[in-house]
This record gives sequence, structure tokens and C-alpha cells, in this order.
Amino acid sequence: MSKGKILLTGAAGYIGSHTWVQLSEAGYDVVGVDNFYNSERNVIGRIEKILGKTVNFEEIDCSDRDAFSKVFQKHPDIVGAVHFAACKAVGESIDKPLLYYRNNIVSLLNLISLMNEQAEKANIVFSSSCTVYGQPDKEHLPIAENAPLKRSLSPYGKSKQMAEEILSDSVIAFPELKVCALRYFNPIGAHPSALIGELPRGVPQNLVPFVTQTAAGIRDHLNVFGNDYNTPDGSCIRDYIYVVDLANAHVKAIDKLLSSTDSNANNHTIEEPTYIEAAKTGRWFVYNLGTGKGLSVLELVNGFMKATGVNLPYQIAPRRQGDIEQVWADPKKAERELGWKADTPIEDVLRSAWNWQKSLG
Ligand code: UD1
Repeated sequence: MSKGKILLTGAAGYIGSHTWVQLSEAGYDVVGVDNFYNSERNVIGRIEKILGKTVNFEEIDCSDRDAFSKVFQKHPDIVGAVHFAACKAVGESIDKPLLYYRNNIVSLLNLISLMNEQAEKANIVFSSSCTVYGQPDKEHLPIAENAPLKRSLSPYGKSKQMAEEILSDSVIAFPELKVCALRYFNPIGAHPSALIGELPRGVPQNLVPFVTQTAAGIRDHLNVFGNDYNTPDGSCIRDYIYVVDLANAHVKAIDKLLSSTDSNANNHTIEEPTYIEAAKTGRWFVYNLGTGKGLSVLELVNGFMKATGVNLPYQIAPRRQGDIEQVWADPKKAERELGWKADTPIEDVLRSAWNWQKSLG
């Protein structure tokens, strides 16, 4: 028997597709929507192959309210949504701010109002980012949920901060609404089947797709952006989290929203100075999703060569503008309240990324 019908926006994307698989395998009935702005149509067939069944999918743009509303008319028994549909490239967002605000904010406004008005239950899991913390001060590392939020420099980052504001205000205004904002650190890797994974268009901006394309000979060499940071080996430090572990956190978040009732709603730590009023409702939750371990760029590069046995040509290059020196998560709150932990060994994660790259031919 199904555990309930969940709407997944941005379902064909990198994290969306992995979450689709994990939610289905956990017993949820998933309705996926995507406009394929930054994803491929064949992902749907690949998800069907992994799951061994046909799936429910609608091609729509969530910023088109009328089109989006039809999904709810077709599926009035939706009890929760996981909202990924958004643009996510920091550099592009600086050149195209209106695209980012329309796509990221209007889609969210439509989702909140449609969930409120037309869904059986209004539970929303929101795809947020550690970018809301900006460059954290050293004393706040590892970053817990109560670390100060710093104004983001890019429209992408600002759209995530605004989205959290909009959701937290909505929780206060709408008594039926429950929200879980998940702040991801750096998702990497691919499904063990190698049927789904990250599909960057053009030259990859993110580290691991660039690494795997270099290992495959598509790129000449990797540029390591900076070795003069104030870190042990001079390169930047991040918290790289396996995308399947990350997808599983969404399953736990939906489980939590569906099972939390007025009587147990306050069974969580309120440690969010920014959103204290929303947290007091017992219907607003924020979790950092990372491994709790920081890895430098050079450690990741060496780890990749060791895990795969493939040589990776690299050079030290100047710092990339806008890069944060070091950031990693304190994921204890997610472990305590969601019963979730990212525990896939980094070697396995890097091998999964390499297997995915090889599958692309
Ligand atoms: C970036 C965004 C973040 C977004 C994430 C996923 C910023 C400040 N943050 O994270 O908001 O959620 O992408 O889209 O832009 N690196 C190299 N060589 C490369 C590529 C990257 O050395 O060719 C280094 C970077 O300098 C950085 C690390 O690898 O230190 C990770 O970079 P990347 O994968 O782009 O992620 P973030 O910049 O952390």
C-alpha cells in the first residue's frame, strides 16, 4: 500500500531524479513534474528502468500557475511536495537575475498557494542551500542551523534566502502548512545503477563533473582554483555529500512532516534565531545536510585517483572569484530529529561518479 502521493518538482534534475527513486522505493507514490529547462527527457525512462514500473509525470513549468494547477486537479490526493524546480548556477544568476527570481520565486509562490488550496495536505520539503550562510566565521565551523545567515552576493543565493523567508512567513499565516527546509552542502556522485547522475550542460562549473570529464579525457586538465587559502593544504574545503544519501534525507523529511501532529509538533529543537516565530508554530523545520567532514579540493582530487586508479591531470590556477574558503556542516540536528546520516564512504561516492561518467560514453 502507498504511503501517500508526493509531488516532486524539478523531478528530472540531478537531486530530483535520485529523490524520485528513493521516495518510490520507500513506498511513496510520486508525481513528477519538470519543464526540462536544465534536464533531459530520457531521465524519465531511466527512472522507470530503475524502478521497474511506469511513473506519473507531467511536463509543466511551475511558474505557470494555470498549468501547475491542472496537476493538482488531476491528483487531488497529494499529501506532500518536494520542491526542487529552480535554477542553480551562481554565475548565470548574476547575468540573468529576472530569470532566477521568476523561476525560483514565482514557482514557489504557486506551489505554496496551490498546496494550501488544492492539496489534501500542505506539507512542503524545500530544497535550500548552505549558500544561505555565506562565508561563515571560523568560530561557526562546522555550521549548525543557528549560525548567522549572511546576505548572499548572487541572485541565486538570494533567491534561496528569500524562499526561506517566504516559506517561514507562510507557515505563520497558514495553520495547515508544514515546511521542512533542507540546506544542502555539496551533492556529488550518482545512483549505483549508473542510469541517473549529474548532467551538466556545456563546460561543468562544479568540481566533480569537471574531475570526471577530465579523467575521461574530455577536458585537458583540471584547474584547482587556489592553493593559497588559509587551509591545511591551501585549497578550499567543502562538505561533499553523496546524492543518494541526500535523497534519503528527503524521504525522512516527508516521513517527519506526515507523522508530526499537533501533540508532537514541538518535539524538536528551536534553534533558529532568524525564523524563531515560524519555529514556534511547530510546523517549521530546518536541517543542514552534509557529512560533517570537510574535504579540500586537493584531497578530493587525490581521493578520486586512489578510488578509481585513473590519473587526473591538474594544475594550480588562480582563485575563482566569489569562492568561499571553507565550509562544512554540523549535521547532528538532522541525525537527531530525522534519524538520518550521510555515511557512504567518499571512495564509493567518487567511484559512483566515475561509473556514471563512463556510462555516458
Ligand atoms: C557552488 C555554489 C553553491 C551551489 C553549488 C551547486 C558558490 C559560492 N556556491 O558551490 O551555492 O549550491 O555550487 O551548484 O558558487 N573547483 C576547482 N576547480 C573546478 C571547479 C571547482 O578547484 O574546476 C573548486 C572550487 O574552487 C571550490 C570547490 O572546487 O572550492 C567546489 O566547487 P563547486 O563544485 O563549484 O561548488 P561550490 O562553489 O562549493
